[in-house]
Amino acid sequence: MSESFLEVSRILSGGLEGEKVKVRGWLHNKRSSGGIHFLILRDGTGIIQCTMKRDKVDRRQFELAKDVTLESSIELTGTVRRDERAPGGYEIAVEELKVVHMAEEGFPIAKKYHGPEFLLDHRHLWIRSRKMQNILRVRAKFLEAAREWFKLNGYTEFHSPILITAACEGGATLFPVKYFNREAYLTQSWQLYAEAAIASLGKIYTIAPSFRAEKSRTRRHLTEYWHLEVEIPWCGLNGVMKVEEELLSYVCRRLASEASRELRDLGRDVKDLLRVEPPFERLTYDEAVEILHEDGFDFEWGKDLGRVEERHLALKFDKPFFITHYPRSAKAFYHKPDPNRPEVTLSVDLMAPEGYGEITGGGERIDDLDELLKRIKENGLNPEDYKWYIDLRRYGSVPHAGFGLGVERTISWICKLDHIRDAIAFPRLINRVYP
Ligand code: 4AD
Ligand code: MG
Repeated sequence: MSESFLEVSRILSGGLEGEKVKVRGWLHNKRSSGGIHFLILRDGTGIIQCTMKRDKVDRRQFELAKDVTLESSIELTGTVRRDERAPGGYEIAVEELKVVHMAEEGFPIAKKYHGPEFLLDHRHLWIRSRKMQNILRVRAKFLEAAREWFKLNGYTEFHSPILITAACEGGATLFPVKYFNREAYLTQSWQLYAEAAIASLGKIYTIAPSFRAEKSRTRRHLTEYWHLEVEIPWCGLNGVMKVEEELLSYVCRRLASEASRELRDLGRDVKDLLRVEPPFERLTYDEAVEILHEDGFDFEWGKDLGRVEERHLALKFDKPFFITHYPRSAKAFYHKPDPNRPEVTLSVDLMAPEGYGEITGGGERIDDLDELLKRIKENGLNPEDYKWYIDLRRYGSVPHAGFGLGVERTISWICKLDHIRDAIAFPRLINRVYP
């Protein structure tokens, strides 16, 4: 017998029948029937049923298994058996139980219905649940696959500051921070710094937190979220859409093959992800507004699409789709106006299907100095605040484009969640910064 502990996932992957093994983890669940205790062990790699029979162990061991509390940390020694009735197809016939830490009685999360606020208050314990394990694992795999795509396609990871002095996405959602004797803000996006960095590194990406002081309570806004952003020199609107399509389809394919069990548990059919292949349908903002009007919406041209409008459009699709050419009035100052029709911009949002709506925002940036100054003033911003950013149009300006993908928005869609708070371990919302 090997002295070292085996991971549960290794046992569940098969081939160890009849072997004596040691495992360790937390007591996820327990029931007893007749002369058998069923100890369900969770070790971070998987969950396995372990059975202890009265006639196979000494009396003290059997009593200990009877008394061991839920969520205690334990070590088990036993023999692997194939058993169709066991979840996962294998179980361990326990010969020895050792309790490393006996958990206090009354683990707050019981096998009964708890309201969302209770579970958020106990988030530090709720992340042990099967549902949260599945989501957090899909999230990790999502980012792992994205990083791999960037590596395969020659992108360099670049980090921008979190503490900043000028808004990228408008002042309304800026978080002020006391910075010694002055005021600074938490970043909403790496973009302005990324536009500086492309002249140093070429194609770049980041995966980092962004902050928005969102004052509304919705199912798709966090105040702190993870932002996967890309910036590419010598790139326009079409180029950036191609990158989004290829990145997302690659990641979905990888998840379908490497997280199929988790996705199935969450209610997501992997076929839905395998459908996410280029090209994605492309709608202009004008076409989107036309559909809304046909369907009886009273929507004014020039406004940004909101949750309700996006939901309506996204219910018509079963794979992601683009909406392009938003009006200038609906987009931030840096978006390049369409030279053929300056009232709209070379912008694009990617919508997730099934009603989910926006998961990315981006497009081509203004590269001309005068045009940028004009748009900064039109937006009521102070050019002094953007001095270094404006400088970039003085020294080797090039056409360039990029986008930002909301990690939790995307995970919400992939995992079929009905609230964005479950796409992150410890969500920050308008009324919550604890735990
Ligand atoms: O559309 P946004 O505001 O675009 C930008 O920040 C650009 N500067 C990105 C770029 O071009 N580099 O935000 C991008 C994405 C949205 O599409 C959405 O998925 C997500 O970030 N997002 C949020 N996710 C969760 N909670 C919030 N409050 C979010 N605000 C934006
Ligand atoms: Mg947006």
